[in-house]
Amino acid sequence: MTTPAKASSLPSPRQLFVTTALPYANGNFHIGHIMEYIQADIWVRYQRMCGNEVNFVCADDAHGAPIMIAAQKAGVTPRAFVDNIAAGRAQYLDGFHIKFDNWSHTDSEENHVLAKEIYRDLKKAGLIETKSIEQFFDPEALEGKGMFLADRFIKGECPKCGAKDQYGDNCENCGAVYSPTDLKNPYSALSGATPVLKASEHFFFRLSDPRCVEFLEKWTQDGKLQPEVANKVKEWFSTRTNADGSTSTGLGDWDISRDAPYFGIEIPDAPGKYFYVWLDAPVGYLASLKNLLDKRGVDFKAYMANPNLEQYHFIGKDIVTFHTLFWPAMLKFSGRKTPDNIFVHGFLTVNNGEKMSKSRGTGLDPLKYLGLGMNPEWLRYYLATKLSAKNEDIDFNAEDFMLKVNSDLIGKYVNIASRTAGFISKKFDGQLAGGYEDSLQEMQIMSMFADHLSVIKKDIELRDFAKAIRLTMTLADVANSYVNDRAPWAIAKDETKRDELHIVCSFSLVLFRLLTLALKAILPITARQVEAFMKVESLNWDLADELMETKNRIASKSLLSGHAIGEYKHLMQRVDIKQLDALFEAPAVVETAPQAAPDNDSSSSTTIEPLAPEITIDDFSKIDLRIAKIVNCEAVEGSTKLLRLTLDAGEGKTRNVFSGIASHYKPADLIGKHTVMVANLAPRKMKFGISEGMVLAASSADEKSTPGIYVLEPVAGAEPGMRIR
Ligand code: 2FM
Ligand code: ZN
Repeated sequence: MTTPAKASSLPSPRQLFVTTALPYANGNFHIGHIMEYIQADIWVRYQRMCGNEVNFVCADDAHGAPIMIAAQKAGVTPRAFVDNIAAGRAQYLDGFHIKFDNWSHTDSEENHVLAKEIYRDLKKAGLIETKSIEQFFDPEALEGKGMFLADRFIKGECPKCGAKDQYGDNCENCGAVYSPTDLKNPYSALSGATPVLKASEHFFFRLSDPRCVEFLEKWTQDGKLQPEVANKVKEWFSTRTNADGSTSTGLGDWDISRDAPYFGIEIPDAPGKYFYVWLDAPVGYLASLKNLLDKRGVDFKAYMANPNLEQYHFIGKDIVTFHTLFWPAMLKFSGRKTPDNIFVHGFLTVNNGEKMSKSRGTGLDPLKYLGLGMNPEWLRYYLATKLSAKNEDIDFNAEDFMLKVNSDLIGKYVNIASRTAGFISKKFDGQLAGGYEDSLQEMQIMSMFADHLSVIKKDIELRDFAKAIRLTMTLADVANSYVNDRAPWAIAKDETKRDELHIVCSFSLVLFRLLTLALKAILPITARQVEAFMKVESLNWDLADELMETKNRIASKSLLSGHAIGEYKHLMQRVDIKQLDALFEAPAVVETAPQAAPDNDSSSSTTIEPLAPEITIDDFSKIDLRIAKIVNCEAVEGSTKLLRLTLDAGEGKTRNVFSGIASHYKPADLIGKHTVMVANLAPRKMKFGISEGMVLAASSADEKSTPGIYVLEPVAGAEPGMRIR
C-alpha cells in the first residue's frame, strides 16, 4: 500500500507541499479538473485537521504552441489570453470549496528563473546534448513567419486506410500509429499549406544516461508508487513505442526544445530556442510555491532544504510519464529534492461511461451544476464515495448520485441531528445531559466509534475515501439504530421518561459530532455549521486519537456532558430529480410521435417552431450577412444578459455589438471565433452604448424546455468580410 514513506517516522507537525496538475490556460475547467481538485482538497483539509502544515498550490500552464496560436487568433498577446482564462478560475474553485493557498502561472518571473536554473544544473551534470532533427515546417503559418509543426497541427490522409484529415500521429478511423512524414498529401492544419521538411538543432535531456536509468529504476520501483502505476512504468524501462509504431529498448532521450516562434521560456545561450512546455510546466509547481512563500516572507530555498518536507503531486493517469520519469530525473540531477510520491487518479466518465460531449448534453458542466443551485458538497461527497487510492476510472451516474446523497447524507447523517436536537432546545434549554459513562449500551457504541474512527483516519491518509465513507456510514447506521430503538418521539410523550429522553437525544448528538469529524474534510461547510450549532471547537483528528487512548474510560469532555448547544437549523436539502434532469438536459432534441417521424430516420425526429411566412429572394438579399471575427468579447458591467463583442468584418475598422448571450457563453469561449453578423442593420442606441450590428444565434422557441443559445460559426476557411448568400 502507498503509505507516505515518511509519515510514520516524522516529527509532528508534518510539513507537506501538495499540488494538483497545472491546467492548460486555453480553456475552462471541465468536471475532470474539478474531480482532481476535490480529491486533493479533501486530503489537504484532512492533513490540516491532523495538525500538519500544508502548502497547497496550483497554477495555469501557460506555454506552448496551442496557446500561442489561440491567442493569435483572438488578436491578443498570449499573456493577455492566459490572464483572461485565469480570471475565470475563481468561480469554479470557490464554488466547489476548493481552497488552494496559491494560484500562479508558468509565465511568471519565478518560473523563468527556476526553469533556467534547473536547465543550467542539468547541463553542468552533462545531461543535455544537442542533435539536428528534421521536422515538418509550415512556411505560411503565423502570417508568413512560418513555424515548425507539432504532430497535432499536421493533417493528411492515413497511410494505412486512406481516411482524409487525420492527425500527424495516429488515425482516428483505423487506429494506425505513424509519424507525420508517413501521411499522404500532408497539409498544415494552421494555414492549409503543404509542409516542408526542415532540419533544426534540438536540445535533449539524456534520460538514456546510465545514471538516470539507475536512479529512475529505483525511484519508481521502491514501493512508493501505486502498484498499478509502478507496473506500467516498469514496462517503459524495457520497451517503448516510437512515433512510427516501432519499438525500442530502454529510456529514450527527451526532446526539450522548440524553435521560435513559441510562447515559452528562452533557453539560456540559445537564441530562438525555447523550452518545450512540458519542461517548464512542472517547474511551475515550485514557482507557485516560491511565489506564495515570497508573499509570506518565507525563504523558498530554506523551506525546500528541510529534510522532513514531503512533496506530493496529484495527477491524472494521462501524464504519468512526465511525473514519474522526466520530473524526478530533472529534480534529482539538478541537485534538488525529488517528490515523495505521485498520486495518480483515473478518468471521470459521466452516466455509464458515455464520452462527455457538451453538444449531446451528456457532460457534467461544473458551472451549470452550480448555476442550478446544486449543493457543491453533494458532488464532493459523491466523488469521495467513488475515489480510492487506486488509479482507476470512475463514473458519475445521476441516479446513483441522487441515491447516495439522499440516503447517506440526508437519510442517515443529517437525520440523526434532525430527530434529536429539537428536544434538547425545547425541553432542556439547549443543555446536553451526560452521565452515560456507566451505561453499557452507550459505552459499547462509543467504543465502536473509537475503533472505527481510527481506521477511517488511516483510510483518508491513504486516500481511500470510498472505504472511509463506507465505515462512516456503518457508524451512522449504528447511531440511527440507537435513535430508532430508543424512539425519543415516543418517550417524549411520557413525562416520567424525561431523563431518558435527555440522555438519548444528548448521546445521539455526541455521535453526530463524531460523524461530522469523519466527514469534515469532505463537507467543510456543513461541518462548520454543525460546529456552530453545537457550539463546539473546530473538529480535528486529535479527538479520534483521544477517544482511542481513553477508550476504556472516556472523559466526560469527549461526551460533551453538560455542554450547551445552540438551535438546530436544517443542514442540507435532498437532491431533487428535476435538478438532475436540468443538469443533463440535451440541448435541442424533442421527442415526437412515431407517425411524425421522417421515413429515413425515426430516431432523430424533432419538433420545431412553425416557419415564418414565405419571402422572395429579393427579400432575403436585403439582409447583408457577413463573416466577422470576434476579436474581443467582454462582460457588460450592470447587465447579466449582454456581452459586448468587438467584431472585425474586414472593413478596416471594428464594430461594437451587444448580444444577449451572457447566460450561455463566457467571453473567453468566443474570443477568436468567426461568426455571422447582420452588417446592414441600423445602429441601435442601447443603455450601455451603440450596437452596430447583430450576431446570429440559434435557439429553440421554447427556451425553457430546451434551453440553449448557439452562436453561428462558419466552417473553417471563411474570412472576415465574406458575404453570406
Ligand atoms: O496535461 C495537462 O493538462 C498539463 N497542463 C499538465 C501539466 S502538470 C505540470 F507538470 F505542470
Ligand atoms: Zn486509417
